[in-house]
Amino acid sequence: MRTTVQSWPVLDTVKGHLAQRARALAALGGARGLWQALTISLYSRQLQWITVKRLDAPDPALPPDPETECFVVDSLPAFDAVAPEIPPAFRDSVKALEARVARGCVVCLARRPHKDGGGQVVVGYEIAERGIFSALGRRKALGGDVVFSHYAEVLPTYRGQRIHRRLFAARDEYFRQRGGKILCGVVAPHNRASLHALARAGHQVVGTVARVSVLRVVVVWQTPWERITRALQSSLPAPVAPPATAASRAAA
Ligand SMILES: CC(C)(COP(=O)(O)OP(=O)(O)OC[C@H]1O[C@@H](n2cnc3c(N)ncnc32)[C@H](O)[C@@H]1OP(=O)(O)O)[C@@H](O)C(=O)NCCC(=O)NCCS
Repeated sequence: MRTTVQSWPVLDTVKGHLAQRARALAALGGARGLWQALTISLYSRQLQWITVKRLDAPDPALPPDPETECFVVDSLPAFDAVAPEIPPAFRDSVKALEARVARGCVVCLARRPHKDGGGQVVVGYEIAERGIFSALGRRKALGGDVVFSHYAEVLPTYRGQRIHRRLFAARDEYFRQRGGKILCGVVAPHNRASLHALARAGHQVVGTVARVSVLRVVVVWQTPWERITRALQSSLPAPVAPPATAASRAAA
């Protein structure tokens, strides 16, 4: 009897990958660790929620906080002037933030008086960019009335004091005055602090973006933008039309 060995390129790739992974991971030792590492390397899934807020109407007034100053930096000279007040503890270094501004991002900063006396210290920041949507390694060009929030951070000692809300209000006002209509961003579903802060700032979850990787083949998809805007339109009250005047009634 003759046996025919069929060649399946996909299976060969899978077998080769498994063998390579197994050899590399066996060196780390431990069957459980081996299995975990193997499954993670074969399959991984990341999910983010898309959040949106319309900028039609001004935000409600915030309670006064004379200690916290929030302001927007949209040029390198303005950034360099405040750079010495940015501590190194943030996720983004001063250099990284400067590079973002150089690439056209806008950075909103929250500043407080230094606890030990003289000067001021930046305690939070937010990075935003016009005309794009970006998530899980993908970037999509959109109209100039859409603003994407890349990241926000408040130093741990200052969290829970609604600094996020002030940062977002300052940023929203900046873009509102420059024709911004929609503010969007993404957030990890388990980031409770961020979700609470976003809800407080008037954002809604309107879709998802997911990134699945199987054997290092990466697939990313997101809720189509049209569906996001539709969801937004159906879930938010339409902007209030200005009351009709005698002149507009006569013109109608
Ligand atoms: C998300 C973040 C910017 C919120 O800033 P903030 O100024 O503390 O926001 P708020 O004061 O509105 O607090 C938001 C939530 O944080 C949580 N929180 C409160 N005090 C906190 C503290 N001391 N430490 C950590 N989280 C705290 C609470 O859940 C709070 O919501 P609640 O009061 O309704 O329960 C901040 O937690 C942060 O920098 N996190 C790490 C970076 C990050 O996840 N960024 C968002 C990426 S999408």
